[in-house]
Amino acid sequence: MFAITGATGNTGGVVAEKLLASGEKVRVIGRDTGRLARFVQKGADAFAADITDSAALARAFEGATAVYALIPPNISSNDVRGYQERVGDALASALRQASVQRAVTLSSVGADKSEKVGPVVGLHNLEQKLNAIAGLNVIHLRAGYFMENVLPQVDVIRNFGILGGPVRADLLLPMIATRDIGTVAAELLKSGFTGKQSREVLGQRDVSYKEMASIIGRAIGKPELGYVQLPAQQLKPALTQMGMSSNMADLLLEMAEALNSGYMKALEPRSAENSTPTSIEVFVNEDFAPRFRAKAAMA
Ligand SMILES: NC(=O)c1ccc[n+]([C@@H]2O[C@H](COP(=O)([O-])OP(=O)(O)OC[C@H]3O[C@@H](n4cnc5c(N)ncnc54)[C@H](OP(=O)(O)O)[C@@H]3O)[C@@H](O)[C@H]2O)c1
Repeated sequence: MFAITGATGNTGGVVAEKLLASGEKVRVIGRDTGRLARFVQKGADAFAADITDSAALARAFEGATAVYALIPPNISSNDVRGYQERVGDALASALRQASVQRAVTLSSVGADKSEKVGPVVGLHNLEQKLNAIAGLNVIHLRAGYFMENVLPQVDVIRNFGILGGPVRADLLLPMIATRDIGTVAAELLKSGFTGKQSREVLGQRDVSYKEMASIIGRAIGKPELGYVQLPAQQLKPALTQMGMSSNMADLLLEMAEALNSGYMKALEPRSAENSTPTSIEVFVNEDFAPRFRAKAAMA
């Protein structure tokens, strides 16, 4: 049986679907069993647990041959780093208590750094906590920059006619669609890997926001669309208006600085092993452009 945290989310949902489709026994974990019903219809067992509750998680992991573990984002928290540590401790304690043999975690490019990479410090510490568990075989999937991070730009384009953000326009980012992360994680969970390792997943190719703006522009019929790098003091109020706590906005801006300076970057050279199929063009055409058109139609 495979236990999946964050099962209603971007990556966990794909992990659960892929494992169910290949006939595996799956236990999906989330805060509300109602939201997990679509997996139950396909044969999964649903388990309601808060990810900070180690006793509940240990029960959820009981009997699992492998676990997909992640730290759900908590963007409205005033202490995001404290929350991440609580989740990391709960996951580690539950994996120990349930004597789980194998785990795949969702980590990030930059998790080699123990400071100055914003929320990615929490993922660095998660890796350390799980590496300290004797007898646990674990792969930390250090994912690149999610293509889904670009979705809030639907509103930025509609309100300001540009793409805007804190990273440099020409900075090449290993952009990955979360569906590809889920696919890789499902395959790894089924494989009988041993040992403890970190492994990067970097998407189909590196893409800059400048290139992204022209790809989006073509897809939504605004070929002149450009990207503007905005200063932190201008962005922070916009981020908090979108529902982020001041603390989360600061962490995000710290991460952007780490990316811009090159301090936070992929360590592996791109290869067939760490590249995944979904291109930014496919993501824009299948995910971004339909959302943009739907919003435009509602206005
Ligand atoms: N954005 C990036 O570029 C990037 C890059 C690399 C790594 N990452 C990492 O990726 C992770 C996010 O992965 P994702 O996008 O797959 O997640 P996601 O879509 O945000 O899904 C997380 C799921 O966790 C569940 N959840 C939230 N709070 C919970 C709680 N207190 N207890 C139990 N379950 C809870 C939610 O389901 P319910 O509502 O059903 O409970 C939610 O669907 C983060 O750790 C982030 O740092 C992000």
